[in-house]
Amino acid sequence: MQIVGPNHLHGSTNALEVALTDDVLVVHGGTPLEGRIRVRGAKNLVSKAMVAALLGDSPSRLFDVPRIRDVEVVRGLLGLHGVKVTDGDEDGELVFDPSNVESASTDQINVHAGSSRIPILFCGPLLHRLGHAFIPDLGGCHIGPRPIDFHLQALREFGATVDKTPEGLHLSAPNGLHGTKFALPYPSVGATEQVLLTAVMAEGVTELRNAAVEPEIIDLICILQKMGAIIKVHTDRVIEIQGVKKLHGYTHRPIPDRIEAASWAAAALATRGDVEVLGAQQADMMTFLNVFRSVGGEYEVTDARPPKLGDPGQEGGIRFWHPGGELNAVALETDVHPGFMTDWQQPLVVALTQARGLSIVHETVYEQRLGYTEALNTMGANIQVYRDCLGGTPCRFGRRNFKHSAVIAGPSKLHAADLVIPDLRAGFSHLIAALAAEGTSRVYGVDLINRGYEDFEKKLADLGAHVERP
Ligand code: EPU
Repeated sequence: MQIVGPNHLHGSTNALEVALTDDVLVVHGGTPLEGRIRVRGAKNLVSKAMVAALLGDSPSRLFDVPRIRDVEVVRGLLGLHGVKVTDGDEDGELVFDPSNVESASTDQINVHAGSSRIPILFCGPLLHRLGHAFIPDLGGCHIGPRPIDFHLQALREFGATVDKTPEGLHLSAPNGLHGTKFALPYPSVGATEQVLLTAVMAEGVTELRNAAVEPEIIDLICILQKMGAIIKVHTDRVIEIQGVKKLHGYTHRPIPDRIEAASWAAAALATRGDVEVLGAQQADMMTFLNVFRSVGGEYEVTDARPPKLGDPGQEGGIRFWHPGGELNAVALETDVHPGFMTDWQQPLVVALTQARGLSIVHETVYEQRLGYTEALNTMGANIQVYRDCLGGTPCRFGRRNFKHSAVIAGPSKLHAADLVIPDLRAGFSHLIAALAAEGTSRVYGVDLINRGYEDFEKKLADLGAHVERP
């Protein structure tokens, strides 16, 4: 048996097969996905909103929280630091009581080492609440080196001292945290969040230049504003934060997950299906919708209508479908907002294997986010990856020997294969490929998908996919 997966897992290894036996999904491909599913709060906002609750002096309430692994990790870390996290009355509602924030031991915190990237965002809130912080080794997807130099540089500018040790990062702020002027070398999402979560209670004014302005960041700003923060978003990626002495809890319903919504849209296109994604919001997905239409997919936006007397109202969403006939090749470049999200890239590429002609994808956010194309090629796709910046403007990775551009020649008939999932988004694209392919695939390591896609197996069943646990 040949298992296709990350390089270190390549080969026909019985041991690997045994190790992964419990974590495999058998996918009988070739059936269009059809039906309706719902997305809840965005993974990349919800986890940060949970960290923000640490800053309040009264309880916070967050709705529409998906049951995903990243949420469990943050919930565990909050609990270790004395924040009482309980389920609210509504399904998906969490309540955070930060009235007894306390230190946790490095051993306790290290239980979460390597599980997520969110722990790095605990720095500012813990420094404000406790005067010190310990951050374990970070996890997250292996899509490049993912350094945290911008985060640490910013924290030092605020007055924190950072001690890197083999067990993790120890931070303290002996003289408190003070507002600063800081320009990010690149509009990093995480570093922008780090600055926001630290500046809101630092003494004085902070001016952040070259900030990321993703919808999830704007939603985090809304949360912090609800808590009592003063934050101005200026033009040209400048954010100004006036530090305040105290913040209180918030009540918030987060923006829906636009990465998950696009993933199901790509799955509908690749399988020649028709999927309505309730909760998907047009305003946050404009760039995706433009590309989806250029490829030849169709969509229809339904606006939400609040309930009124005698009218139950209507939940908004977007229906995505393959209209029949051939798809078109496109050239696209991933970028920071408002560009085409890097996380939309992998699922969409599976659909691009079905488009006639040469599509070009230039990945400019992460240097190593095209490795998954190897597995698609084993299934019959024709994808070449290049070190050059193809089809667009030169990016940071152009002269640095990273294969970060892909040319997809299509259409290709995909056939079944045995696959090992390498990371979250690539994993979902493997799943889409297996659903689109003729025959029966075995997808190993599917549990990784639970990090970011709530109830994905139930949603697959709701969409008529023929999948089973062996
Ligand atoms: N970067 C640095 N130094 C830093 C921080 C970032 O060089 O200190 C570089 C990164 O290596 C990368 C680029 O800047 O090349 C962008 O990274 P960014 O900081 O924006 O990403 P992130 O905050 O680590 C979040 C999401 C990612 C998403 C990116 C881009 C979370 C938990 N993760 O990551 O989501 O791809 O923003 O939008 O919010 C996912 O959900 O699967 C995922 C990977």
